[in-house]
Amino acid sequence: MENKKFVALQIMYLLGLSLIFCLSLAITDGGMGILNPKAESEAEEENSGMQTYIVWVKKPVRRLFSESHEHLESWYKSFLPKSFTNSKEVMDQRMVYAYHHVATGFAAKLTAEEVKEMETKDGFISAHQDRILPLHTTHSPNFLGLYQDLGLWKGSNYGEGIIIGVLDTGITPGHPSFSDEGVGPPPAKWKGKCDFNGTFCNNKLIGARSFQGGKTTGAPPVDLEGHGTHTSSTAGGNFVKGANVFGMAKGTASGMAPYAHLAMYQVCSEQGCSESDIVAAMDTAIADGVDVLSLSLGGGSAPFYADGIAVGAFGAIQKGIFVSCSAGNEGPGYGSLSNEAPWILTVGASTIDRSIKATAKLGNGQEYDGESLFQDKNFSSNLLPLVYAGAYSNDSTALCDVGTLNGVEGKVVLCERGGGIGRIAKGEEVKRAGGAAMILMNEDTDGYSTLADAHVLPATHVSYAAGLSIKAYINSTSTPMATILFKGTVIGDQNAPAVTSFSSRGPSLASTGILKPDIIGPGVSILAAWPVSVDNGTESTATFNMVSGTSMSCPHLSGIAALLKSSHPDWSPAAIKSAIVTTADIVNLGGKPIIDETLAPADIFATGAGHVNPPKADDPGLIYDTKPTDYIPYLCGLNYTDDQIQIITQQTVKCSEVGVIPEAQLNYPSFSIIFQDLSQSQDYTRTVTNVGPANSTYNLDLKLPGKIAMSVSPSQLKFTEVGQTITYLAEFIPEDGAGKDAPFYQGYLRWFSDQHSVISPISVIFDTQQ
Ligand SMILES: *[C@@H]1O[C@H](CO)[C@@H](O)[C@H](O)[C@H]1NC(C)=O
Ligand SMILES: *[C@@H]1O[C@H](CO)[C@@H](O)[C@H](O)[C@H]1NC(C)=O
Ligand SMILES: *[C@@H]1O[C@H](CO)[C@@H](O)[C@H](O)[C@H]1NC(C)=O
Ligand SMILES: *[C@@H]1O[C@H](CO)[C@@H](O)[C@H](O)[C@H]1NC(C)=O
Ligand SMILES: *[C@@H]1O[C@H](CO)[C@@H](O)[C@H](O)[C@H]1NC(C)=O
Ligand SMILES: *[C@@H]1O[C@H](CO)[C@@H](O)[C@H](O)[C@H]1NC(C)=O
Ligand SMILES: *[C@@H]1O[C@H](CO)[C@@H](O)[C@H](O)[C@H]1NC(C)=O
Repeated sequence: MENKKFVALQIMYLLGLSLIFCLSLAITDGGMGILNPKAESEAEEENSGMQTYIVWVKKPVRRLFSESHEHLESWYKSFLPKSFTNSKEVMDQRMVYAYHHVATGFAAKLTAEEVKEMETKDGFISAHQDRILPLHTTHSPNFLGLYQDLGLWKGSNYGEGIIIGVLDTGITPGHPSFSDEGVGPPPAKWKGKCDFNGTFCNNKLIGARSFQGGKTTGAPPVDLEGHGTHTSSTAGGNFVKGANVFGMAKGTASGMAPYAHLAMYQVCSEQGCSESDIVAAMDTAIADGVDVLSLSLGGGSAPFYADGIAVGAFGAIQKGIFVSCSAGNEGPGYGSLSNEAPWILTVGASTIDRSIKATAKLGNGQEYDGESLFQDKNFSSNLLPLVYAGAYSNDSTALCDVGTLNGVEGKVVLCERGGGIGRIAKGEEVKRAGGAAMILMNEDTDGYSTLADAHVLPATHVSYAAGLSIKAYINSTSTPMATILFKGTVIGDQNAPAVTSFSSRGPSLASTGILKPDIIGPGVSILAAWPVSVDNGTESTATFNMVSGTSMSCPHLSGIAALLKSSHPDWSPAAIKSAIVTTADIVNLGGKPIIDETLAPADIFATGAGHVNPPKADDPGLIYDTKPTDYIPYLCGLNYTDDQIQIITQQTVKCSEVGVIPEAQLNYPSFSIIFQDLSQSQDYTRTVTNVGPANSTYNLDLKLPGKIAMSVSPSQLKFTEVGQTITYLAEFIPEDGAGKDAPFYQGYLRWFSDQHSVISPISVIFDTQQ
């Protein structure tokens, strides 16, 4: 593990960027209240030395009459102290969850001594304290090439018959996005439950349950936050005409799979999302019969056996369920990803071609374009006095922290982004102090990435460069003046999609030999359903909001996976991922390489394969498939112990028998190559399956700038049948001076026929300093 960290650290060092090891909030600094890690009742339990632990154990020895739930639960109970087993009441209080499908283990309230005692029992593998993980559209369907009555939407009948399970803060039933108009009844396999009363569940919203602080509560999973309503409607919301906020971004809103079914599993409260609840919800969702799981939440990098989401997701893919997760909002530093397991689709965030424009105009005539969802058409274009919030005293005033501003009455106030203070909260402080308007400038690391937020006063969010120019102007005159010009919804930005600053970056620390993130999708200023009105219902009756985060890009991909599953019911989760990855776009609308927050071309650790292209993913030509058992030799190659692997696979594993493969030998649709020894070349095989026309011939196109030569054999793939597989060998050969000219190389291996282009991105990094 240390080696892998070292590689990532080396890259970060070489590129002069700092390492950020925080947990990821998949919604950005927009004011999610989910930061306080412990509820009060839990604090009380801590006083008595009790904590919730997740305990992984081996599978019980098979009995004659199969492994019933009762048998499994009595096996779990055998690990607990006698004092529990003797009293039903104590057992009910202390046993939090017994997992049945995705994991062999349970969650229980235990003291450290009780855990210690358990460790000596036969069949025990490991125990760790429950973790609290943070949570990490009218236009985006068209931007992604989805049009009514055409192509993929038509071919998949808008995701009909597919069930998307969303783990989040709950949902707002009755919202028009969750109407079941045009949606048929759920398939017969559906076994889920709806804990909303009466008519709130329907053919669209077919499941709704709450998992919080232990038990499945039976309480209706009402969304008090907004996040879960937004992500669910992005994945599978129905068509809603005239959706908008403040009259902006007006149009027909819909999710990616508007006729798919939705099931909400509420796992997050205002305190965050606990890992034991997440695993319980995944366990239930799999038994319920979902087809796709969408998780816009996650913690920092961890070995897969110690990461509940990775463990649960492996249980899911074993049942053919696709799992899509947010990459995290800890960018732009390298090695800042969440949810890195190769059986998960890891989704970064990029812009769409829409901005809600608001321009800062200064007394010297200079104008700086920025964004704000709240557009005050009444705001005067006359210049007002301009002040820099940090001018008088210190950093916290510069950040417009709560209670810090005074003397700004009637003025335009320049505030700095960051400091853990929500962007909207900064505007609230300016408004409280009597300011007339706010110019919010980026921090250095956010560069040119701006966001359209529902500010509470006239405001615009501008780039770091614009902020510096505005500061210099303030210094240059004794009477600085400014105003904000509101220009409304503008579509057609040729720089879109662009990777946004907060999107977490690779390389993966948990498994550097797998390229992550896999893909980027829309995650900036996304309009979707919201529980309450943010514009006091002035412009519409249905309630929508525009928010940003990898939380928003993940459900786009979950919905697209649902469409692909509907149009290709026989594709495995790995096949769907391969189709998405190998058909991604690497250029923007202007035909130039996708850029990042610095306006320079984004690198492979920001984009992964590139930007999702759903119509192309529907017809990829070739796929790189992987069976669940193929991950076992890969996990052995990560040097996990047999017991650690068993936590993930729920089967007895002996690496000495199944064999070991290097990470890069997994049949993944991309390549992440690490060189520790430049005297040796490395070779890997890949197997592709023909899902295009029976008679297809593919030729090779290789691009890997830098001092690594590549050789691929065969260099032509000739298929005569659908479903036929061909294995090829890719060799990476270091040349003199490899790795001395750049910290890493990136390129691709592309197979192309008359009709298809199948691209595997390649990263090559060097770890040669020992
Ligand atoms: C159903 O739930 C809604 C919202 O939670 C509530 O307003 C309504 O009164 C409930 N209806 C019944 C019949 O319980
Ligand atoms: C703009 O002015 C009109 C007329 O005075 C008023 O009704 C409206 O509420 C104002 N809008 C805003 C956003 O302040
Ligand atoms: C910064 O200034 C504000 C307002 O004057 C004050 O409330 C705050 O305590 C100061 N913070 C520090 C760190 O000095
Ligand atoms: C503005 O002036 C202050 C005080 O003279 C100085 O510290 C600051 O660096 C200047 N800022 C810019 C952007 O020139
Ligand atoms: C909405 O209404 C509340 C309460 O009346 C008010 O404080 C707030 O400023 C209003 N927001 C907008 C955007 O008009
Ligand atoms: C696993 O251990 C072997 C032998 O020590 C080493 O060569 C390899 O790099 C390790 N793999 C990982 C992923 O750490
Ligand atoms: C593929 O090509 C072979 C040989 O040329 C031919 O016999 C076969 O009919 C073709 N199959 C299809 C589906 O076109």
